[in-house]
Amino acid sequence: MSDPHIDSIYSQYRERVPDFVFDENVVSVFDDMIRRSVPGYATVIAMTKVFAQHYSQPNSNCYDLGSSLGASTVAMRRGIDKPNCKIISVDNSEAMVSRCREIVASEVSDVAVDVVLADIGDIEIQRASVVVMNYTLQFFKPENRDSLLKRIYDGMLDGGAILLSEKVEFSDTKEQDFQLNMHLDFKRLNGYSETEVAQKRKSLDNVLISDSIKTHFERLESVGFKNVYLWFQCFNFVSIVAFK
Ligand SMILES: C[S@@+](CC[C@H](N)C(=O)[O-])C[C@H]1O[C@@H](n2cnc3c(N)ncnc32)[C@H](O)[C@@H]1O
Repeated sequence: MSDPHIDSIYSQYRERVPDFVFDENVVSVFDDMIRRSVPGYATVIAMTKVFAQHYSQPNSNCYDLGSSLGASTVAMRRGIDKPNCKIISVDNSEAMVSRCREIVASEVSDVAVDVVLADIGDIEIQRASVVVMNYTLQFFKPENRDSLLKRIYDGMLDGGAILLSEKVEFSDTKEQDFQLNMHLDFKRLNGYSETEVAQKRKSLDNVLISDSIKTHFERLESVGFKNVYLWFQCFNFVSIVAFK
């Protein structure tokens, strides 16, 4: 019998590939899926702990927006060493939130975590010292991205940091082809078949809309963030940090 935690969702050929959703089936294989699909994921999660340690402030909130199973939440929780910090983890997938609550509850910590089932466009950001959005903005409606970032900025404390990790597009065709082909080879080498690679791409066509690094920088700066840095890149996946 196949391992129920190994991602084989797109292994069978389908006549029509439905749009990707973060449902119960994805939840059961999510950890395997994201590690085999996102180059640099493990590094970004490990460094999320370092950012949380460095930039969390006493008596503040730390947000994990699009928390999925809480990998970034758990990393932040292990990094935070200031008194009276609370993590608020938000996801709009019921299946993700319910499993995330179990994972968070299984670890003993002084740092409180509230796992909230909500759209990140609807929540209030308050007294935030650290905001983490790892691979989530790309799933948020492009026309609402500016206003979301502005609300996040407004809800942050001075000196606060936002960590934004995303898949990105390149305007130079040669670079786009290079980065994309390296990403697809990364997936093949991680055991995904041509059918899986092709069907997963199709399922994400209308769902994952990526911006360029330039667009991310301009958006962050336009809502007020200062000192916007690209601190990590692995092929077409990047992580940016910006400060209030
Ligand atoms: C690629 S996963 C994020 C991975 C996660 N941050 C991590 O580090 O492991 C994207 C997540 O964002 C959630 N999501 C997408 N759009 C959302 C929205 N508008 N509001 C809340 N959550 C959203 C999805 O349900 C999914 O769990």
